[in-house]
Amino acid sequence: MKKDFISLKDLSAQEIEKIFGLTDKIKKNSQKFSQALEGKSIGLIFQKPSNRTRVSFDVGIWQLGGHPVYLSPEEIDLGKRETISDAAKTLSRYLDAVVLRTFLHQDIIDFAKAAAIPVINGLSDFEHPCQILADIYTINKKKKYLKGITLAYVGDGNNVCHSLLFGASKMGINIKVACPKNYEPNKEVVGAAKKFAKKARSLVSLTNSAKEATKDADVIYTDVWASMGKEHEIEERKKVFAEFQVSSRLVSYAKKDFIFMHCLPAHRSQEVIDEIIDGKHSVVFEQAENRLHVQKAILVFLLGERL
Ligand code: CP
Ligand code: NVA
Repeated sequence: MKKDFISLKDLSAQEIEKIFGLTDKIKKNSQKFSQALEGKSIGLIFQKPSNRTRVSFDVGIWQLGGHPVYLSPEEIDLGKRETISDAAKTLSRYLDAVVLRTFLHQDIIDFAKAAAIPVINGLSDFEHPCQILADIYTINKKKKYLKGITLAYVGDGNNVCHSLLFGASKMGINIKVACPKNYEPNKEVVGAAKKFAKKARSLVSLTNSAKEATKDADVIYTDVWASMGKEHEIEERKKVFAEFQVSSRLVSYAKKDFIFMHCLPAHRSQEVIDEIIDGKHSVVFEQAENRLHVQKAILVFLLGERL
């Protein structure tokens, strides 16, 4: 049976730990893995722009001895030029796996259903699992442990927030989400995260107060106020989210050794000020680097059965 990587809700804590162990192994002994994807071609299909996801997958596949095939939004025109199912069935005849960035999460699910090859979610409107796995790996490296860490997510209850809710709750990280009214994360995601947290003995909480969430936090995480596809709402959102900016005042409520995280791209002077994102607590470029390492492990986890 092929394995997909679409949502962090489908991964167990043990599988996440296995991917982190594999990440360390690949980092330490890259030579051993330089042919892990030999003879394999991986499609990179993007409906939206990308810097980190596109480049880190392209370079990572190449470092593992595989062949990346990038298809831009215009080239594939997913769901318009032909049905998603026909595109998935065709690509399954050429490729060994696909990384897919779509507007609609359902498109990734539909593609995966029709495809005979593993499908990796490279961001949808609902989740960003590769990002969050790299982020949890980064927290573990910085703080040396995960269980009992308190992470405050401040901002839009979006794709990044959803994957954080799943990932943190599975790994025993306490997560406090602060969003403006009507911009909260999906209720079912919060409900599922609460169940995972119960098993991992951690906490999930939701508030409309950024101050309340950041109090005594080990990690402060934020993301853009208007995600890709919602840019036209930015003027309205600037007003609604003003209180949720990661400012010097807001971080003063966190623990003294807090780390600041952002998946990037950042909109400086909106969700975060320069002083914080460029300051000594920021680990945003470690996060970006770890995309490369963790995604190589995800590829080996899904495809490198012989290693
Ligand atoms: N964080 C992230 O996924 O960045 P890109 O949109 O540039 O890929
Ligand atoms: N929430 C953002 C994340 C970008 C990596 C978006 O979807 O645009």
